[in-house]
Amino acid sequence: MADDNWTDIGAVDALSAQPLQRIKIKSAALAVSFKDGQFGVVSNTCNHAGGPLGEGHLDGDYITCPWHQWKFHRCSGLGEPGFEEDRVPSYPVKIENGRVLVDLAHPTRRNSKPHPPHPLERKVERQPGPPRLAGISTTAMDAANPRFSGSDHLLMHALAEGQKLGAETKLLKLNDLKIRPCEGYYSKAAEACTWPCSITQMDAKDQMDQVYEALVHWADAIIVATPIRWGAASSLYFKMAERLNCVQNAITIKNNVLIRNKVAGFIIVGGQDNIQGVAGQMLGFFSELGFIFPQFPFIAHSRGWSSEDMEKNVTLVRDSKELAEGAAMLAQRCLQMARGLIEKDEAPVHIERGGRKAHPLDYETPR
Ligand code: FES
Repeated sequence: MADDNWTDIGAVDALSAQPLQRIKIKSAALAVSFKDGQFGVVSNTCNHAGGPLGEGHLDGDYITCPWHQWKFHRCSGLGEPGFEEDRVPSYPVKIENGRVLVDLAHPTRRNSKPHPPHPLERKVERQPGPPRLAGISTTAMDAANPRFSGSDHLLMHALAEGQKLGAETKLLKLNDLKIRPCEGYYSKAAEACTWPCSITQMDAKDQMDQVYEALVHWADAIIVATPIRWGAASSLYFKMAERLNCVQNAITIKNNVLIRNKVAGFIIVGGQDNIQGVAGQMLGFFSELGFIFPQFPFIAHSRGWSSEDMEKNVTLVRDSKELAEGAAMLAQRCLQMARGLIEKDEAPVHIERGGRKAHPLDYETPR
């Protein structure tokens, strides 16, 4: 039985069978826990990004959020030691006649202890100055025993041309950065894939922040260089691309267009073939992030299906004036377009139904 304040949320036997569960009752979403013979009831909604606490797990008397592992006391709602002020509402709970009753009208107050914002969170604003060209090298190699890389070689020509044209340039070699693979926060829930990336926010040692910084805040144009590995871009390219999901997802869930007035070009070098397939994937992906492309947005080279004499390929690429010129012209096209875009500044800040999502989204925020 329940009076005006006390709401019956279920039988003791049933609710004590699980250490933690999410219960929706009336308009309240609750995280109900049972441990050492005692029930705890707190709001289901995490203070961080709204993760469903009732779907997490218990660490002692703390509920661990399933999205990014923030912790709240299962009875008091207080944050873990050191973060007590960061608390979620907790509800009075009592047992009567084998039923669990919760006073939904008198929760404690939610309080968010402001966490210092991550530097990447700052407003995206182009700083004045000459055009800026970032080169992203995605080839993998043993740093202690480096080898010639055709894609890197052409990327250097492109960056050198950028400097000749008065641009600032920057080279990021993914091979030199310690980057954790994407751990699938989007697979938990769209809103769990945050900007800045959940891993970046949690792990100060992860160096993907350098790529985000270059792509989102610094560059006007980027050139991504990749070898072809079994008909696809390199594994480091895909490692980066998976971690860039948060940039695309910011459009989907927050209507936040992080990439504006920016140009992308590509250098693709393979031993065998599938240049067009690799280019298609890269163009599709970077268009989803918000980059736009100059006419003829990639240059490429491959020796072809029947050429297994790859050592000749090294000589060919290294000595080819045509390929070097092609890389330089790609940089010219990218920077010319970037200059025009900076001048006009017409790219949208927000976008109705961003990217592929032409129709309204039908996910329900799981609170
Ligand atoms: S830790 Fe709960 S939503 Fe991020």
